Amino acid sequence: MLKLGAKVALITGGGSGIGRAISELFAAEGAQVHILDLNPAGAAETKAAIESAGGQCEVHICNVAVQEEVLTVVAKIGRVDILVNNAGIAHVGNLENCSVEDFDRVFQVNVKGAYNALFAVVPVMKTNGGGAILNLASIAAVVGITDRFAYSMSKGAIYAMNLSVARDYMADNIRCNSISPARVHTPFVDGFINKNYPGKEAEMFEKLSKSQPIGRMGKPEEIAKLALFLCSDDAAFITGNDYPIDGGFIKLNN
Ligand SMILES: NC(=O)c1ccc[n+]([C@@H]2O[C@H](COP(=O)([O-])OP(=O)(O)OC[C@H]3O[C@@H](n4cnc5c(N)ncnc54)[C@H](O)[C@@H]3O)[C@@H](O)[C@H]2O)c1
Repeated sequence: MLKLGAKVALITGGGSGIGRAISELFAAEGAQVHILDLNPAGAAETKAAIESAGGQCEVHICNVAVQEEVLTVVAKIGRVDILVNNAGIAHVGNLENCSVEDFDRVFQVNVKGAYNALFAVVPVMKTNGGGAILNLASIAAVVGITDRFAYSMSKGAIYAMNLSVARDYMADNIRCNSISPARVHTPFVDGFINKNYPGKEAEMFEKLSKSQPIGRMGKPEEIAKLALFLCSDDAAFITGNDYPIDGGFIKLNN
């Protein structure tokens, strides 16, 4: 029996990394997947992988930071049973290395993008009798990490937004949870290593792998399995929670 049969799932940032793994697994479990992504090439690759495995996927090229774009896409889709707020960008630097442009860029995508998707989708879920929402937070929301000022700020906002939405829409049969991964090996991680540590890529990769007590980074597929559980009816009794998936990062780093 498919875990998401007949469900419509909207996944932001489904064109790469964690969002791609979630899109592929949700489609394999019967969901009609709608990807909202800025990157047409990445989104097309995810769609091709889903369709070649027999699943259903539509791509909507959309900047989640722009409310009008998100509202237009959601109106076109019409019904949404599952929302995964996954699109996000990185920034490496402390407070003094964070310009107002850096701050605004991270805020626009990571915080306002999630708000825009929630703002568009929650009324649709209310009308349809409920739904499941999953927000991608991060261990950076709850642990002080060196040089992650803007990024941590944005993920702390997700952590709080998750609680607010879970509380306000419980009576509408909408469940809302978040996942907080430690490092997961995706283009997001490769991108910020290449950009911020030129010439030291292998050393940084090793260092970031070892910062999880388990000794490696997570795999996107591992995040997708937790996402599937939380968005499926198996998790019907779970709302308003955050789930670290972190190789021991939060509790075993001593
Ligand atoms: N990789 C990690 O180590 C890690 C750890 C904790 C949390 N996260 C979070 O997980 C999420 C996914 O991370 P990932 O590593 O898979 O990233 P990724 O860079 O591999 O993929 C992000 C996707 O989001 C899309 N995107 C970016 N800005 C967008 C916008 N404005 N509108 C629409 N789409 C946009 C990109 O085109 C890309 O397809 C992010 O929210 C990230 O903060 C990642």
